[in-house]
Amino acid sequence: MCGIVGYIGSRRVVPVLLEGLKRLEYRGYDSAGLVYLSKNGLVKHRAAGKLVNLETKLDQVRETASHIGLGHTRWATHGSPSELNAHPHSDCNGELVVVHNGIIENYHTLREELQADGHVFKSETDTEVLAHLIEEALPLSRNNLPAAVRRALKKVRGSYAIGVLWTGAPDQLVAVRSQSPLVLGIQENEGGGSLLASDIPALLPYTRKVVFLDDQEMAILRADGFEVRSLASGRKINKEIKTIDWNPAMAEKAGYTHFMLKEIFEQPQAIMNTFRGRVEPETGQICLPELDLSDREIKKLNRISLVACGSSWHAALVAKYWLEKWVGIPVEVDIASEFRYRRLILNENVLVVPISQSGETADTLAAMCLALQKDAKVVAICNVLGSTITREAHGTIYTHAGPEIGVASTKAFICQLVALYLLTLYLAQVRGVMSASQRQTMIESLVELPPMLERELPGWQEEMGRLAEHFVKSRDFLFLGRGENFPIALEGALKLKEISYIHAEGYAAGEMKHGPIALIDRDMPVLALAPQNGVYEKLIANVEEVKARHGRLILLGSRGDRDLARLTPHVIYLPVVMPDLNPILYTIPLQLLAYEVARLRGCDVDQPRNLAKSVTVE
Ligand code: M6R
Repeated sequence: MCGIVGYIGSRRVVPVLLEGLKRLEYRGYDSAGLVYLSKNGLVKHRAAGKLVNLETKLDQVRETASHIGLGHTRWATHGSPSELNAHPHSDCNGELVVVHNGIIENYHTLREELQADGHVFKSETDTEVLAHLIEEALPLSRNNLPAAVRRALKKVRGSYAIGVLWTGAPDQLVAVRSQSPLVLGIQENEGGGSLLASDIPALLPYTRKVVFLDDQEMAILRADGFEVRSLASGRKINKEIKTIDWNPAMAEKAGYTHFMLKEIFEQPQAIMNTFRGRVEPETGQICLPELDLSDREIKKLNRISLVACGSSWHAALVAKYWLEKWVGIPVEVDIASEFRYRRLILNENVLVVPISQSGETADTLAAMCLALQKDAKVVAICNVLGSTITREAHGTIYTHAGPEIGVASTKAFICQLVALYLLTLYLAQVRGVMSASQRQTMIESLVELPPMLERELPGWQEEMGRLAEHFVKSRDFLFLGRGENFPIALEGALKLKEISYIHAEGYAAGEMKHGPIALIDRDMPVLALAPQNGVYEKLIANVEEVKARHGRLILLGSRGDRDLARLTPHVIYLPVVMPDLNPILYTIPLQLLAYEVARLRGCDVDQPRNLAKSVTVE
């Protein structure tokens, strides 16, 4: 999890590191730290808690003119979230420092060996072994830092993205990637310097030219350039420099109180970006060349397997309804952390679709690797360009949601649904199981969504604000749905619990009488998704059962449905769209409800406790 950043160049390093850390804080905020090289050696500052604590500490520090350093924001895995465990971590003499994102699996053995050799450890982290291992390797590598790092890492098992700085090599930073993301920033002006970071937003104030490190690659960064080498052989590797078209403002709050709210309001645009260039409303054609599957391969598919975590898993659950209905292929949906631990029956006629906003979720990545080993076709759905999942998959459908900073997934989830809808239409098109006119109708309905959402969003925010005032003190919350809206009940519950800390559960409405109905009393809010679709009457019957037991009902239903007001004073009316698109439409008021409740409760909406934006550990 954690975010790392590094800089060497003509700028003063501390502001560059702090700015980078601010943009990486979504990756973890248990502690933060930085280090720079001064004429008296390495200077380290660290603080427990959020980055602001480190900034406060630095306020009392005299300005430094250093031009080389590393920074880190931590999501604790080994060792409590204290200042002592905050990165950077040093060797015995404090002459070499390491920042790290990932987990060193054999750290315990390595630590014992190093201690037996006289190394003294100051923290409880797995990371600290790296500093000591490199310290040991330096004399054996003729004090050549890249060679020492390579030698040291031969002993290490696990996942890591690291940055290393040593007083003996004051003109370079060494960075290595093995299963944890790392990207280099190449400054456009001469002498502008070189950067490294866990994610692109940290680089955007300085450059749009980036190089994605691949697994088992090492970078040596200097003020006037960089080189990339193979970790195994040390051979030089030519890397492609890519240009990122996000501008820094895209990663800012743009006047909204929270990133989450901004990201909710960006959804109409994000949906358009995701379908743009892929649909032809006039002909009903879908173009998805990025799938990298021939028509023959698509026709031979006999099963689809969707794997993901959290909200991305909810998107997969919705897609099961779409794919089975329109493509007619059996679809399995797995939580990625479970996928690996059952007997997998996969082959080249199974399409495995890992779904991930970040493209770095460890469990989803591991599930995908298994699928690749078993020769399945793998097409990822992902939001982050160049992320690990996209580089391993045979093909990727990018969700063009733009950077999502709020820990709660909003626009990325909605764009995953759009991408899965496009995938459904495309597979149906290639397999010849859906007429062009049917596809045309479905594309037209999708294209109508963004302007409709633009119109609805401000009103929904007001309505959800009022509703939030009624329910802000609730201890629990139930969300009900049926059919393709059942996963949206799960998503509504996840949004509420993760940002407001109210206990919430989502249920298939028909399941209520099999147990959960016992929870209903006068204090229990029950929100039901009640669009007029094929299961409307059945859902209303379930709602009546809740009403009979005095549950506090909230209904989201179709505009014009006069029946709903009979059941409760809390009804939110939504426009009528084709039933397949209801999951997209009905999610958005639920995001706003969670947001408004969390805001009223004074919660940290963008960085909820105990969570991180990308979960790069199992
Ligand atoms: O980056 P990913 O889509 O793989 O992340 C998966 C989950 O960690 C993520 O959806 C998480 O559940 C969010 N906090 C939900 O809002």
